[in-house]
Amino acid sequence: MSSLPGAPDTLEQALQDAVRRLMAAGVPSPRVDAELLAAHLLKVSPGRVRALVLTGSAAPEGFEELVEERARRTPLQHLTGIAYFRHVELAVGPGVFIPRPETESVAQLVIDHALTLDAPKIVDLGTGSGAIAASVADEVPGADVHAVELSDLAVAWAEGNLRPHGVTLVQGDLADALAEHDATFDVVVSNPPYIPSAAVPNEPEVALHDPGMALYGGGEDGMDLPAAAAASAARLLKPGGYFVMEHAEVQAGEVASLLRRAGCWLSITTHRDLTGRDRATSAVLARPAPSKAKRTP
Ligand SMILES: C[S@@+](CC[C@H](N)C(=O)[O-])C[C@H]1O[C@@H](n2cnc3c(N)ncnc32)[C@H](O)[C@@H]1O
Repeated sequence: MSSLPGAPDTLEQALQDAVRRLMAAGVPSPRVDAELLAAHLLKVSPGRVRALVLTGSAAPEGFEELVEERARRTPLQHLTGIAYFRHVELAVGPGVFIPRPETESVAQLVIDHALTLDAPKIVDLGTGSGAIAASVADEVPGADVHAVELSDLAVAWAEGNLRPHGVTLVQGDLADALAEHDATFDVVVSNPPYIPSAAVPNEPEVALHDPGMALYGGGEDGMDLPAAAAASAARLLKPGGYFVMEHAEVQAGEVASLLRRAGCWLSITTHRDLTGRDRATSAVLARPAPSKAKRTP
């Protein structure tokens, strides 16, 4: 249904037009995105947008332009400036990885374990926007949460997101960061870059807007950074400490075998996300990883 010439679109008409344009552009969830863009402009919740539809309200100014940008496959979160992750809202934009729903399950594993501990010390390696670290700080009272990130731009976003949660943010390489904290953490969590170098993602939002540094794990199989995160976890954890790492579904076997080969991990467990895919692995540190000096023959 379109409005009379000269008459302003109702919100519902504008949403229906937006759905048609977004669907034609291949956006996977057109109605949800259209409602979230309207909610952003109207400064109300998506629920309130649906209520305004029922009362015949007018479309907000600037809606068509935002829909046009979304149709060009600019990530929704870059247009609204916000990513929702568990119970936290994160400021995001160009230069930082948009947190994904499957990572909420990774954070859940950390939170469930951390809630069994008294004042746990936790670190998130490759924190990006700070999604995991902020959620853990938000949901585990008394936790001492640290976060490590290498990218200048991601650190700038993470600083603003983590400060209100009291998280200690360190700029550095997850491979050697926090050496002064070796063998002191109760939990290490990481969602490192893990995509193989040749596997360029299909979605324009990811391929064109997520920073390459957040995507590609290094090496043909994308496993260089996941392996570095696992080695750092063995260095940073106390004996009995808990490690959780996200990975691609096809990497579950490789992650489990790299942890087995390290010889210092117990209870190596693969975890499924909400869609049933093997997307995370946890393990418990049996004893500290052998030092480099001891490994040399
Ligand atoms: C897949 S993103 C995950 C971000 C965030 N943890 C999340 O789950 O939304 C990986 C992050 O690791 C960072 N990163 C890449 N290489 C790194 C390194 N060597 N040391 C520390 N962080 C690194 C990237 O900049 C990016 O922010």
